[in-house]
Amino acid sequence: MTTVVARPAVLPQSGHPLGSPWPASARAGAHGDLLVGGVGLAEAADRFGTPLYVLDEQEVRTRARAYRTALPEAEVLYAAKAFLCSAMADWVGEESLGLDVCSAGELRLAVAAGFPAHRILLHGNAKSPEELRLALRLRVGRIVIDSLAEIPRLAALTVARSPQAVLVRVVPEVAAGHHPAVRTGVGGQKFGFPVRGGDAAEAVRRVLEQPGLRPAGLHCHLGSQITEVEPYLTAVDRLVDLLAEVHDRHGVELPELDLGGGHGVRYRPGEPELDLADFARRVPDRLAEACGRHGLAVPRLLVEPGRAVAAPAGVAVYRVLTVKHGSDGRVFAAVDGGMSDNPRPALYGSKYAVRLVGRATDAAPHPVDVVGRHCEAGDVLVPGALLPADLRPGDLLAVPAAGAYQLSMASGYNLVGRPAVAAVDRGRARLLIRRETVEDFRTREVGR
Ligand code: LLP
Repeated sequence: MTTVVARPAVLPQSGHPLGSPWPASARAGAHGDLLVGGVGLAEAADRFGTPLYVLDEQEVRTRARAYRTALPEAEVLYAAKAFLCSAMADWVGEESLGLDVCSAGELRLAVAAGFPAHRILLHGNAKSPEELRLALRLRVGRIVIDSLAEIPRLAALTVARSPQAVLVRVVPEVAAGHHPAVRTGVGGQKFGFPVRGGDAAEAVRRVLEQPGLRPAGLHCHLGSQITEVEPYLTAVDRLVDLLAEVHDRHGVELPELDLGGGHGVRYRPGEPELDLADFARRVPDRLAEACGRHGLAVPRLLVEPGRAVAAPAGVAVYRVLTVKHGSDGRVFAAVDGGMSDNPRPALYGSKYAVRLVGRATDAAPHPVDVVGRHCEAGDVLVPGALLPADLRPGDLLAVPAAGAYQLSMASGYNLVGRPAVAAVDRGRARLLIRRETVEDFRTREVGR
């Protein structure tokens, strides 16, 4: 069983190598329960059913605030793709973060929730004409240009008297991130313009030609789940070289530099995470130094953390449905969720911690494969988890660091339906998103 390591409540990103993946509010409760945000997970499971995603509001807020405090001069935009709902938009908005969205859906939800459009930045390698029109109509703060074709397409919808601020997404040739599928800082993938070979410089030149576009700066996103600061420093150097080239050629100093997100968190006790304090010290220093070398004014820094704000605030709670003891000693504990609410283990081989909650036991830990309920042998959530040997149907299992890229990538596989989401805060729980039912699936059917 994974033990809960107490952490300081105020500074979640202390960079402590032996830190915990659980929210800072996690405390042992009575009868083997675990309290998050002052709410017992077993109690929440009883009240809202399982699988249940519990979101610790204060963990999200504290993490958002930690970014604002660590990087007071920078603009911090929460990457909505990690997880977005109206409450999440409220929390990050109230903590003075901006929002990075990558679809009309994310954009519409945020604006409908009351998020100010001028603090929203729109991404995407394939924005539809409707998405571009919507972004302009809602007056989003910035649009990130990702292809040459997008430049005249966007410019055709804008007018010189109210130009749209744009960033040009470049590929700095920096390899970083937890899986090849999320490494976007290198060539040979679909995003951005390579710095090498002149594509990025050409994109900037074409933006400068458009009176309806205001070139605000450069953007890059290296990858995800990066736990070292060095890749960001290399990216700063390469982007500043390009800023200098733009200045030399066109006499223009671009005022913004967006380093994207990718800040790593810990999924299991003792894993490293990106040290925010170290990032906040070294990245602005490096930016100032590189700009000084080229005689450039220092652009404003933008960062887009998604996972680092949302993941540690989420805990997934499952109920064990069956425990199968094989003759070879192997034990499979099947829970009522799986790859439809968390595709990350199947997609990327992501590793998670898991613990029993809601029942005290002295049984010795035993290796158990925690598997999902879906019709695939690959539906394994946590292989080889150490769980009490007396694990049985009806038990509750909790998985930490579940707040990012699980719900946002959840699917309708097997018509199981996506789980409910409850917020916990200072001893109170409230439902944010109800469980998806078969009626929801049927409602979308309009013919037969
Ligand atoms: N900015 C841009 C342009 C991005 O593409 C992303 C993530 C972020 C910011 C936020 O990255 P974060 O700080 O959350 O790492 N589904 C994968 C992650 C894909 C991330 C895609 N882009 C996973 O579950 O690990």
